Amino acid sequence: MKRPSAAELVAAARAARDRAYAPYSGFRVGAALLTEQGDVITAANVENASYGLAICAERSAVVAAVAAGSRSFQAIAVAGNGPDPVTPCGACRQVLREFPLGADLEVLCAGESGEDLRTTTLGALLPDSFGPDALGPASQP
Ligand code: THU
Repeated sequence: MKRPSAAELVAAARAARDRAYAPYSGFRVGAALLTEQGDVITAANVENASYGLAICAERSAVVAAVAAGSRSFQAIAVAGNGPDPVTPCGACRQVLREFPLGADLEVLCAGESGEDLRTTTLGALLPDSFGPDALGPASQP
């Protein structure tokens, strides 16, 4: 498995952030999802005049990755445009939990710029989580 460095994954998330569509909140977020095969799939948040329909960068990245044929991920980097590292929202944590690495997914959280990086796991962000395994063998994907 090839593996970009944490700095490279964060740089990819920051580059994707430039493509965010966030005219309502002004909070621009980029995400870079590292697939099991070592590909990096990026996305950004997309807002809407009907505010509640905003789609986070992380979920956009998951959707793009699945549409491109990847369903297994090693890590995700997230970069907001605020001074502090941004962590995935609750909905995105649950969506990321769905895939094979589950709680062991590495999550790299970054801010606008600089070296301040929070490295954690999905399990730390979403303890005692509900996943596909909870549905029993008949319901496994
Ligand atoms: N947002 C993300 O894209 N990812 C997060 O982890 C937190 C929030 C977006 C959603 C919305 O477009 C904007 O940031 C403000 O909440």
